Amino acid sequence: MSKITTFGSRFGTISVVGSSVIGLGNIWRFPYIAGENGGAAFILTYVIITLMISIPLMLSEFVLGRGSRRNSVRAFRKFDEKKSLFWRYFGVVGIATAISILSFYSVIAGWAIKYLIEAVKGTFFTQSPEQLTSLLNNFTTSGWHSVSFTLFVLVVCCGVVSLGMEKGIERYSKLLMPIMFVILVAMCINSFTLPGFNTAIEFLLTPDFSKINTGVVMEALGQSFFSMSIGLGAMITYGAYLPKTENLFKISGYVAISDLTVAVLSGLAIFPAVFSFGINPTSGPDLVFLTLPNIFAQMTGGYIISIMFFFLLIAAAMTSIISLIEVLTRYICEEFQIKRKRAIVIVWGLISILSSMCVISQMPDSKIVVAGMNLFDFFDTISSNYLMPIGGAITAIFVGWFVSKDKICTELTTNRTYGVLIVGTIYRLVKFVIPIVIALLFLNGIGLFKM
Ligand code: PFF
Repeated sequence: MSKITTFGSRFGTISVVGSSVIGLGNIWRFPYIAGENGGAAFILTYVIITLMISIPLMLSEFVLGRGSRRNSVRAFRKFDEKKSLFWRYFGVVGIATAISILSFYSVIAGWAIKYLIEAVKGTFFTQSPEQLTSLLNNFTTSGWHSVSFTLFVLVVCCGVVSLGMEKGIERYSKLLMPIMFVILVAMCINSFTLPGFNTAIEFLLTPDFSKINTGVVMEALGQSFFSMSIGLGAMITYGAYLPKTENLFKISGYVAISDLTVAVLSGLAIFPAVFSFGINPTSGPDLVFLTLPNIFAQMTGGYIISIMFFFLLIAAAMTSIISLIEVLTRYICEEFQIKRKRAIVIVWGLISILSSMCVISQMPDSKIVVAGMNLFDFFDTISSNYLMPIGGAITAIFVGWFVSKDKICTELTTNRTYGVLIVGTIYRLVKFVIPIVIALLFLNGIGLFKM
């Protein structure tokens, strides 16, 4: 790269990183997991993990990205003093993770577009709950009809990435981030007026420490990695665009706070309505595409709220997809020395094929089964349960053990004087605590170690 492109402003930086981080993980996954796994006790566990593991890892990825100004694979190569074969190719695991997340995530974004259209048409008001269930089932198993929405999402997102960082990704993130916040806050204000508000607060925020066990801690770890976009090199890629003057601690702090705020606000926006209509909370596709449309139909102002909600979902999903496309694009451009536009066409082609296979694997008579799962569930499971935690732990080992401490600390602080305590603490967390904690939780999760 001849000229170094960086984010235009701090607001731009926080918008771009924040819009990768804020996604489906916050809106449809976090509130339900928190409610089911101890409420405030889970949120506390999540905050501790985010502070002790995700933020130090985000900082490590930023350091690798900004220090190398390279893609997520080459960054390891640039920092590896011994130039070993392992670190030369380790980053490719992150590329595989980005491919698997993109493949199932863009399918869900396609569903969200279909549901925005149905919301505008007012379908939720004219159909019975049984008809709404068939609408979802028929659509998700429809094959090519559903594929067309996914392909549309990919065309739009690739279009934004093709405009480059400043004119594409940064510009759209700066526009969409504030809109997403406004929609969420408007939905929360509406929630105050609903009778189920108190029950929702109880479900989400009552601390129940008896529910916290190693399984729940592992769940919080996976959720934190997924939600903070950690463990696959996305923050290495975005770190490569960070100006040298930017304070990495502030950026990761603001991003983590925005991420948690959006997750909790999503719970406050969604669950009061769920409880007001006496429905059991669920997560994932059922919550968003089944429970909520039924609720919107019975709510005052439900028409407008349903449109706002699906717009929010599309914006959150698409900005995360854009960040993943950027990871792959930058990798292909630099690694194979080809033009950005051509790299984007390759990414579009590859993900179109894989995401179409995810859709087809959900059809009733589909033969696409991997490890006993359809392809959609397979990509979902391997990325958050295996690839991201492993990627995170190995990145920590690299930064802690294979790169000189001076190099890390200099890049972390860009020669400013920060408290020795904070830099030292982050360094020790990365070097010792993170690899050990992730290894123990992981071994416990796969049954090789009992805690
Ligand atoms: N953080 C996104 C979410 O919470 O939905 C998902 C994600 C985006 C994970 C980008 C990883 C990534 F690189």
